[in-house]
Amino acid sequence: MIKYLGSKRTLVGVLGAIAQASEAKTAVDLFTGTTRVAGEFKRMGLSVIASDSATYSDVLGKCYLETDANQVNMAALQEKIDYLSGLPGVPGYFTEHFCEDARFFQPKNGIRIDAIRDELEKNFQNDSDYYILLTSLMLAADKVDSTTGQHMAYLKSWSHRAGNELELKIPDLIPGTGKSILGLAENVVKDLPEVDLFYMDPPYNQHRYFTNYHIWETLVRWDKPPVYGVAMKRLDSRSSVNHSVFNKRRKMPGAFKDVIANAKAKTLVVSYNNESWVEPIDIAEAMLQAGHESVALLEFDYKRYIGSQIGIYNKSGAKVGAVGERLNKELIFIAGETFRVEAIEQVVAGRGIEPRT
Ligand SMILES: C[S@@+](CC[C@H](N)C(=O)[O-])C[C@H]1O[C@@H](n2cnc3c(N)ncnc32)[C@H](O)[C@@H]1O
Repeated sequence: MIKYLGSKRTLVGVLGAIAQASEAKTAVDLFTGTTRVAGEFKRMGLSVIASDSATYSDVLGKCYLETDANQVNMAALQEKIDYLSGLPGVPGYFTEHFCEDARFFQPKNGIRIDAIRDELEKNFQNDSDYYILLTSLMLAADKVDSTTGQHMAYLKSWSHRAGNELELKIPDLIPGTGKSILGLAENVVKDLPEVDLFYMDPPYNQHRYFTNYHIWETLVRWDKPPVYGVAMKRLDSRSSVNHSVFNKRRKMPGAFKDVIANAKAKTLVVSYNNESWVEPIDIAEAMLQAGHESVALLEFDYKRYIGSQIGIYNKSGAKVGAVGERLNKELIFIAGETFRVEAIEQVVAGRGIEPRT
């Protein structure tokens, strides 16, 4: 999976256990990013809807969620991967901007990315494996980049991995059903059906995914936009349509509360980040106001579940603790009927689940 700021890589096991304990059959993953949480739900047999405003996330969703691994002709897919891998490199937009004007990738890989992406655009757009192939290209490019994991800057000296050869592979496809929706969470949430489990992981500060991952956005759209600055960002990064309300200090808390209020689910799970502009107590209250009976706040460090010392909060309005001091902690709110929230907490605590590394 691609390197991604705020990715829930280490918490996927915990979130899977929560899904199991909630006995959910259907789920939503709003702000899905890499789709890895939605993918875990799907792997456990849930039917999942995932949504994000990033086009690359929608491509990942069409590959990992909408594609049923059991319906894919793997031999034919491998032949397509082999064919694309064998294309001779051709310098183009990607090489010029991301390998020469900037040094995100070595030109030897850039020319192959250009050739493969052009071929996908010309001859594979109607192919049933199109999104799988595009995902394969994104994953391969991510493995040979020269960044610290974002596209706002590249390293002064080439990273070791940048010298490796671009290698297309079949992504780890998942059996089952799912759906990906490209759109703004604040709009999409209103049209989603009621589900058993609703997970949300919004951005919590000013760092914009549209600019942090502008190369993936351009690679999947292949719209070859004008660029600016040392990082060769898309000129349309400046356009208001590409700014998220979740990156705006004054608007974010209200937008977040609206999304919580509009999420129709038996169990609502929210990931919390301690760089947030929203206080934990406000999130807990928004969940109660949305009609949930109880809210629990679970705390993890990078190794294991720490406990529920922060407690379960009901409509009597007990306070949630001072989360700001808990550096290097992952926090998860769980809201729903009291018996279900307690059962989830017990399962998570009792299993001593270790987040994946
Ligand atoms: C913290 S990341 C989610 C990470 C994800 N859980 C994972 O494990 O990969 C937040 C996501 O919110 C998306 N986003 C930002 N503003 C949005 C908006 N208004 N509507 C929908 N998605 C938005 C970003 O593109 C980003 O993928």
